[in-house]
Amino acid sequence: MDWGLKNRLSQIIKPQNNRALMLAVDHGYFLGPTEKLENPKKVIAPLLKYCDSLMLTRGVQRTSVPTSTNVPMVLRVSGGSSIIGEDLSQEEITVSIKDAIRLNASALAMSIFVGSKYEHQTIVNLGKLVNEAEEYGIPVLAVTAVGKELGKDARYLSLACRIAAEQGAHIVKTYYCDNFDKVVQSCPVPIIVAGGKKIPEIDALQLTYNSIKGGAVGVDMGRNIWQSANPVAMIRSVRHIVHGNATVDQAFKLYQTLCNEKTQQSKPQHKSNPPTQSKPQHKPVVNKK
Ligand code: 5RP
Repeated sequence: MDWGLKNRLSQIIKPQNNRALMLAVDHGYFLGPTEKLENPKKVIAPLLKYCDSLMLTRGVQRTSVPTSTNVPMVLRVSGGSSIIGEDLSQEEITVSIKDAIRLNASALAMSIFVGSKYEHQTIVNLGKLVNEAEEYGIPVLAVTAVGKELGKDARYLSLACRIAAEQGAHIVKTYYCDNFDKVVQSCPVPIIVAGGKKIPEIDALQLTYNSIKGGAVGVDMGRNIWQSANPVAMIRSVRHIVHGNATVDQAFKLYQTLCNEKTQQSKPQHKSNPPTQSKPQHKPVVNKK
């Protein structure tokens, strides 16, 4: 593996502890304005300093991420289908390697749809993307997408992850499942776990904990962070597990503490110190003309 590729990988999976916290905000590429991600700029701004890398599309990167950031970008380069279209698995590579380099991408991400109608197309595209990306020392993250008709069990996910690794993916993103350690053991490259649809905060923390215990390097989490009632508290609590080796209880306590602090801060200060005299609170507006 060349120096550039190793260096980019080390920006995403931290070499100190072999862990990664990726914030996923790429959902709009097939879902449009996803709930609570309608304004990516506002969502990303307070969360950026707590993630190791950001997974996004070029459109969101150019419009919604400050150019001054030093957070590595994991650029989604596949697309072509929408949630209301005929088949989500009909994806192609939509971003050129030149544009990815212009965007200073630390990795390229694309989905493969093993077992779906367009399985062949997406797996061949992964191989071709790896050919091209390796020329420039850019790692490729393969997302093992699951469709309605596809299972999320260890047998299916092991198959999909292994195929992605065999095509040369440098990181594979997949889902947590029962017997997850089997998925990890049969995949020769690092696995990162997707958060999936919104669940209670404590369950998302449990998912993070289980994923790491099962051998994943970390999580690539989206909805369970920015659809949370308190996204900053949530990402910090996920981080507490990924990089602080916290238990689920410890991480959830942190979540609650941060939520309480936020509630205290947002309370109007004068309420605890009421005025002693019943003076009018606002001076009447004097017309100086
Ligand atoms: C969509 C993706 C998302 O980035 C991925 O699903 C992670 O986000 P979430 O935690 O919301 O599931 O790759 O194809």
